Amino acid sequence: MPNSKLIDPCNRKLNYLRISITDRCNLRCIYCVPHGFIPKLPHKEILSYEEILHIVRISVGLGISKVRITGGEPLVRKGVYGFLKRLTKIEGLLDISLTTNGVFLKHNINKIKSAGIKRINISLDTLNRKKYRKITGYDFFDQVWEGIELAHKMGFDPVKLNVVPLKGINDDELTDIAALSIDYPFHIRFIEYMPMGTNQMESDHHLLFPEIKKRIDQFGKLIPVEKDMNDGPAERFKFKSAKGEIGFIRPISQHFCNTCNRLRLTASGQLRPCLMSDVQVDLKTPLRKGCSDAELAEVFLQAVRLKPLGHNLSGDHPVGVSAQMCAIGG
Ligand code: 5AD
Ligand code: SF4
Repeated sequence: MPNSKLIDPCNRKLNYLRISITDRCNLRCIYCVPHGFIPKLPHKEILSYEEILHIVRISVGLGISKVRITGGEPLVRKGVYGFLKRLTKIEGLLDISLTTNGVFLKHNINKIKSAGIKRINISLDTLNRKKYRKITGYDFFDQVWEGIELAHKMGFDPVKLNVVPLKGINDDELTDIAALSIDYPFHIRFIEYMPMGTNQMESDHHLLFPEIKKRIDQFGKLIPVEKDMNDGPAERFKFKSAKGEIGFIRPISQHFCNTCNRLRLTASGQLRPCLMSDVQVDLKTPLRKGCSDAELAEVFLQAVRLKPLGHNLSGDHPVGVSAQMCAIGG
């Protein structure tokens, strides 16, 4: 691994780059685009695959060893499988994963596997077809579930399922979803809803970790799983004798900012040091002006210097983030 140059003012070593390759999505999840509308970036504003690969190579030279491809929905972008193949060939990247809503998994899982991707996160907020439609706007539950089963059969490990618990919407299913981890080696990750963008969900729908965990604990005792070096922010547990595990991601009830190792590259070529802040530095303009690799590396260092110590989405006077999640990639 190269010596990391990406060490922020709080001494956090940033080795993880999340890359949104498109702001477009084929779903309209209520917590992501609550009023069903996302502004679409014009094609020329979106980084080309060539540009993204160039940026990744520079970032690896600076200390990035882990990359996740996100969107919007990454699998809606034309040419994505060829891009993934080129990405996984970049030397020095030790871990490359993909976050998807799963709608296109069923027919493309072979291409994802042969591109060299080994780990996938799939969003699944309900096990009920009607409710899936209510949450996402589309009747794709069956095909997403088939995609999840296929990913499991084809040896993706782990298959992580992302669930955003929302009061009055899917909170009656939290134990059913958690129970999937008994028979399947899935990692079920309950992610606290983060109020982002201009259209946010009413506070009556917000549900935080203590309540989520209490409900799941009532179904079966959650045994803590020891953290390992490569863990993200999830607090991990499992049911006794379960094949899989349960994780809680608590951006609101307990910041994990002090151990955050991430940078984000938006589809429009902006580097964001924090998901919960609108601070960003422009990589696309210097890149398109033909700046040298050293000058582009300097933009990375600038983003690292701007990484905030913590976020402000909770507490008495929360400061909002104006970008929608689909524009940043979660
Ligand atoms: N709060 C919490 N999680 C969200 N996601 C999207 N929007 C939000 C939000 N506002 C999740 C999706 C997806 C992951 C990338 O981010 O469930 O799985
Ligand atoms: Fe699309 Fe993901 Fe947003 Fe749902 S959460 S609308 S799948 S980008």
